[in-house]
Amino acid sequence: MIKHIDNPNGHFLYIGNTALSCILKISCGKAELLHLGAPLAEEDCEALCGDTLLGWGCDVRYREGDPRSCLDDLPLAWSERGTGDYRETPMELLYEGTDICPDFVYSCSGSLKREELDPVLPHARGAQETVKLVFRSANRLLQGLSLELRFSLFETALVRQTVLINDSDKPLQVTRLMSACADLHGCFTVSTFDGGWIRETHMHTVPVTRSRTVNESTNGFSSNRHNPGFLLSETGAGEDSGVVYGFNLLWSGNHCSSVQRSALGFTRVLQGISPEGLCLDLLPGGRLETPEAVVAWSDRGRNGMMKKMHRFVNACIIPAAWQYRERPVLFNNWEGTTFDFNEAKLLSLAGKAKKIGCELFVLDDGWFGDRDSDTAGLGDYSVNLRKLPNGLEGLSKKIRALGMQFGLWFEPEAVNPDSECFRRHPEWVLSSPGADAFYGRNELLLDLTKPEVRDYIVESVSGILDRAEIQYVKWDMNRHSPVTGNKAYAYILGLYEVLHRIFDPRPQILLEGCASGGNRFDLGMLCFAPQIWASDDTDPIERLEIQDGLFSLYPQSTVGAHISAAPHAQTLRTTPMSTRANVSFFGAFGIELDLDRLKPIEVKELRETVAWYKQHRKDFQFGCFRRNRAEKDALCWQAGDEDETLCGLFHKLIPAGPEIEWLSVNGLDPARIYRVEARPQLLRLAAFGDLLRHVTPVELNADGPALRLADRHYPMRDGGFSAECSGAALRSGIPLSKRFSGTGYDAALRVQGDFGSSVFCIKERT
Ligand code: DGJ
Repeated sequence: MIKHIDNPNGHFLYIGNTALSCILKISCGKAELLHLGAPLAEEDCEALCGDTLLGWGCDVRYREGDPRSCLDDLPLAWSERGTGDYRETPMELLYEGTDICPDFVYSCSGSLKREELDPVLPHARGAQETVKLVFRSANRLLQGLSLELRFSLFETALVRQTVLINDSDKPLQVTRLMSACADLHGCFTVSTFDGGWIRETHMHTVPVTRSRTVNESTNGFSSNRHNPGFLLSETGAGEDSGVVYGFNLLWSGNHCSSVQRSALGFTRVLQGISPEGLCLDLLPGGRLETPEAVVAWSDRGRNGMMKKMHRFVNACIIPAAWQYRERPVLFNNWEGTTFDFNEAKLLSLAGKAKKIGCELFVLDDGWFGDRDSDTAGLGDYSVNLRKLPNGLEGLSKKIRALGMQFGLWFEPEAVNPDSECFRRHPEWVLSSPGADAFYGRNELLLDLTKPEVRDYIVESVSGILDRAEIQYVKWDMNRHSPVTGNKAYAYILGLYEVLHRIFDPRPQILLEGCASGGNRFDLGMLCFAPQIWASDDTDPIERLEIQDGLFSLYPQSTVGAHISAAPHAQTLRTTPMSTRANVSFFGAFGIELDLDRLKPIEVKELRETVAWYKQHRKDFQFGCFRRNRAEKDALCWQAGDEDETLCGLFHKLIPAGPEIEWLSVNGLDPARIYRVEARPQLLRLAAFGDLLRHVTPVELNADGPALRLADRHYPMRDGGFSAECSGAALRSGIPLSKRFSGTGYDAALRVQGDFGSSVFCIKERT
């Protein structure tokens, strides 16, 4: 509900539903933020005004004589420099090169129409209600300049946006315009999701203090360094209890958010585009619309907040055609072949992938131009006929004849100097005026701010999509930007236009975003691409950190996660296939292996794995996600609902003589009876090494031909476990079967070892 309330105490705006509420009061013409968080009633408005001691000492009063007009002391939903609020400002405007205070004063409000939204920027869909508050400049020089604060109420989140409209006759420059500003009361920690290539989105938590904590990206993209999303948790909040706010931004470029506690105990939260290097012209008649900023709130800890944020992303961000639609089991040739393939090799892989149960075959990098390595070919779209003599159309037809969908990799934003595209159009390269172009992965970026470049990409990509009947696209981008500020900002708008033009008319294509893995994992991209390749790192133990971080902000269906080879290409860690699968289940699941090199036992294991996954994928992809109690050094993820829940228990280093392990499961009906069944996993003989000598009737060398042959073909079972009990017992925890500690193998033993894991299916007994 959105409601204006006028009473002798002032003008209030109540925005709220059962998930959260936001209460504003117009105080001295400014937007005071009385409350943002718990779902309060409109009757609470007045009590929230309070009668606190304001306007003391050296405070500056916005209206002389009114101690309640010290803006520095009030919780605000917007602020500007020069009015007495000295906290970090959400806006900076320049007039003739000088900082100018427009002194925005509330004028009117109204609902927001779809046609008022910028057609290029991504927007969340399906708001319950919207409102815009209009403020007009009281500065004599800037008459006609106005500010719109937009609020859209969704079932589980609130979305904000800021718009500056210059109907004055003065040319202005905007060096900062945040999407949202909010002062919250309470003591908080802030959790950010940081990293770099192959180690993205690790969660880091620090207390919010009087010093400003900034979460910012300046590499041109939302970045693998600092994801735009972050959490504010009230001190003491845990997985299932306490207040947690989740914040995020629908923007794929440089972003900036900051939190800082004020002297009076409010935490100022700013979210928006990074102001670094930004100086945008706002000419008379012009307008500037920020990306949308999201906040979700829960008093049920991180799990409660994730539930709401995931629901918002699944229902209001993901393109309509892919909402809650199960993602196909994907096979991608990249990690198996890199650039070294031809049609025969691809068809051999596709045939095997099909037998394993994969539904979508994706041809990755290397199908065009002279692209046999990452030094050539980017920017060109002519098919490499040496590798694919029947062209993409021929390959696509053969793959589809196998009963699989066909998907294709592109990196349309980049160009290699060794390419036809670059030779013809060196002027298309993105660079800073007068500066040399700097290389990243041997490539340069194309200048997407140029209409002719956008046209080239749209026409080239669209033509291939239609001719080869492509059903999935992996849209890659593999370097940081060479530009900052205005140009980096305009680049992202250019990218959004390109994505609109290619994919709006082709909603049936499943688009997967990718940027060296997770260098652009954000809500802006998710408005076009229902899933994003989370990281080039597919090592499941690293993935536990990466995916765990991502799940704090994004639902499982959005997180591309594949089984790949062990030892792993980047960590050299050897992990069991079962764990590689169990981690990838919690995501948009796929396989990236050279299937021609697998042992028969591995093929069998993959076939069983995919078949089992398909029975449960809906819950894995769309079920309510939670983190749960687990022993030290282990992690427990849950996905599902009261009827069926999948629970993944992941170990890192296994202790010698391990303690008894307990399985506790949340979110079930305490009164119902459930059956718990561990996913059947295979165990490789080779896992026992020299121990085998003690159990075989004749002494055999563990690395000798007999045991190697047995290891290739003979499956053993691991971790069988089943039980029946109530939801209440599962909440409190049930003991799992014994773990290997040197002796005694039987089918119920969980061998596992380092990096072992299990997935349990918990289903109501019928
Ligand atoms: C980087 C991606 O993250 C990989 O998955 C792969 O597509 C390569 N690029 C191809 O060059």
